[in-house]
Amino acid sequence: MKAAICTAYGPPEVLKIKEVDKPVPKDDEVLIKIMSAAVNSGDARIRGLRAPGILPLVMRILFGFSKPRNPILGLMFSGVVEEVGKNVTVLKPGDQVFGSSGSRMGAHAEFVAVKEKSVIAKKPEKASFEEAAALVFGGMTATYFLKKAGIDSIQEPRVLIYGATGSVGTAAVEISKHFKAHVTSVCSERGADLAKSLGSDDIVLYTQQDFRTLDTQFDIVFDAVGKTKKKDAIGILKSSGKYLTVGGMDVAKETKDQLEFLRDLFDNGEIHANIDKVYRLEEIAEAHRYVDSERKKGNVVLKIQS
Ligand SMILES: NC(=O)c1ccc[n+]([C@@H]2O[C@H](COP(=O)([O-])OP(=O)(O)OC[C@H]3O[C@@H](n4cnc5c(N)ncnc54)[C@H](OP(=O)(O)O)[C@@H]3O)[C@@H](O)[C@H]2O)c1
Repeated sequence: MKAAICTAYGPPEVLKIKEVDKPVPKDDEVLIKIMSAAVNSGDARIRGLRAPGILPLVMRILFGFSKPRNPILGLMFSGVVEEVGKNVTVLKPGDQVFGSSGSRMGAHAEFVAVKEKSVIAKKPEKASFEEAAALVFGGMTATYFLKKAGIDSIQEPRVLIYGATGSVGTAAVEISKHFKAHVTSVCSERGADLAKSLGSDDIVLYTQQDFRTLDTQFDIVFDAVGKTKKKDAIGILKSSGKYLTVGGMDVAKETKDQLEFLRDLFDNGEIHANIDKVYRLEEIAEAHRYVDSERKKGNVVLKIQS
């Protein structure tokens, strides 16, 4: 099968398309023919070994010392079940699924084998494969942080999303609207139309106004790009308010429940895939270059097979 191989940690050019063996599913695994996969900030971070402080050392221990132990990056995918191991009970060949391969990665390829019990679910019926792959990264991250902040137990919460136009930010705005929030989105002029189209009630352009000077008191301030500190939000939070950031030590946990939640919201028309660009697998380096720019709007996906 064709796969994007990460030959070393470094710039996007370290990614090379190669022919490798197709994975063979173990007894508790399913082999998935990948139709589409997301390229997100997490993939680019692993490829470039980009993280503050001593984290690059931790990443080398986790992912491989001189290059990724599993050289095929990519976690978030959509596809069709091709084959199932003998202990697989629910999924069957032909099922259309979406999800995450987790720390084993391997999604930037024509096939991946994952445990049936891993974070995969039937894909939204109304989503194309590109849309289904695009929903997973930002959608699961935003769901994790917003639920951690208790969004589902606050009546008509006042929510500020800092960095509303990335993968996590776009999902956070739409998921907050599902919970009947009044949403203030902080973004640049480049993203203002997108943020409005997602349902934001107020837009704060970070080039023109410092969100710390707002006179609203929020129930939740969620930094979806990891560019602020808790102390920045102190003056705009209610006494019971919560500040959360993707930029701290808290790593979003991924669950099947989150996928099923996202599937329902998509099929009900409450969230969108917010796809910025679609690349072919052969254009993987270009896709990483665009993600590295930290300017993408929503999601970048690879169309792998049709
Ligand atoms: N902790 C976790 O579990 C977890 C999980 C997922 C992601 N993350 C982290 O979350 C971060 C965001 O991920 P992502 O994939 O959503 O990012 P992304 O899609 O690459 O974000 C790009 C967007 O951020 C906006 N942006 C850039 N700088 C900004 C700033 N200073 N203020 C406001 N907006 C800004 C850009 O818009 P403009 O160019 O128009 O400003 C662009 O639309 C990454 O650092 C990622 O590693 C953490």
